Amino acid sequence: MAIADFSARSLSELWSLEGRSAVVTGAARGIGAAVAHRLAEAGASVLVTDVDGEGAAAVAAELPPSPAGPHRSLRVDITDTGSLVAAADMALERSGRLDIWVNNAGIYPATGPAIDAADDFIDRMLSVNVRGTFAAAREAARRMTAGGVIVNLASTTAFRASAGISAYSTSKHAVVGLTKCLAVEFAPLGIRVVGVAPTVIDTPGVREQLDPLAKAGLDVGAAMAANLLGRAGVADDVARVVLFAVSDMAAFVTGSTIPVDAGSLAGH
Ligand SMILES: NC(=O)c1ccc[n+]([C@@H]2O[C@H](COP(=O)([O-])OP(=O)(O)OC[C@H]3O[C@@H](n4cnc5c(N)ncnc54)[C@H](O)[C@@H]3O)[C@@H](O)[C@H]2O)c1
Repeated sequence: MAIADFSARSLSELWSLEGRSAVVTGAARGIGAAVAHRLAEAGASVLVTDVDGEGAAAVAAELPPSPAGPHRSLRVDITDTGSLVAAADMALERSGRLDIWVNNAGIYPATGPAIDAADDFIDRMLSVNVRGTFAAAREAARRMTAGGVIVNLASTTAFRASAGISAYSTSKHAVVGLTKCLAVEFAPLGIRVVGVAPTVIDTPGVREQLDPLAKAGLDVGAAMAANLLGRAGVADDVARVVLFAVSDMAAFVTGSTIPVDAGSLAGH
């Protein structure tokens, strides 16, 4: 394998995604939308996908323009392999290459004690967060004929268990494991696989979970800022790390999962 001399490249070249074709799942809002914005800003042509097709179209319409032409959107449910195939084919067809796939779509519905977890609930969590992520990575890798990067959104709950979120935490442990497994198998194909593990980030999905608790007296602002940096994370805090992971700045990074945790795994 030829050794790429990245040290000879300028910083602006290393950060640039110009000419690259990217797909982001679950990008109609929250972290996925912020990732789509940063990838477009760095020059990638982005296919914005989400099970919410209208939301995906609205995000695609607002992205910074790409030299490769308008960004596009597609309704994609990551539990439906047919729609993953359609997205991967659509991204490939635009520029003849697929370079970047960000597996961001994930669910974290209200949960509770493991001892009460229903089979359907466990199945749904694993089907979206694990099977959907796995199948999407597979479809992406099949089309990354010139190499590429796959980023999987994990979570700090993949490293530290908390009571009441066992199904979600289990699914994100699996995403960290999947990231390692795929990195091993895809390295010979020139494909890096990187995980990104946020702590609590202020997104619409998190608000949906916390708003009912706020009505019951929780100080949501304080709960979200309970980390070493003392402020709530925002979607762009994660998007900037995803941008790093997909760029050539991270050319020597694969198989690992990068925490975006404001120190919350370090201590409290
Ligand atoms: N926000 C946080 O605190 C946080 C922390 C750690 C990890 N994460 C992870 O980051 C990712 C994004 O989180 P967010 O807070 O932005 O979520 P969000 O709920 O605000 O947005 C998620 C998006 O994914 C879409 N989606 C859900 N199921 C889908 C499916 N089956 N197929 C396609 N799209 C689907 C939704 O329509 C939505 O637009 C998730 O994987 C989540 O587990 C979030």
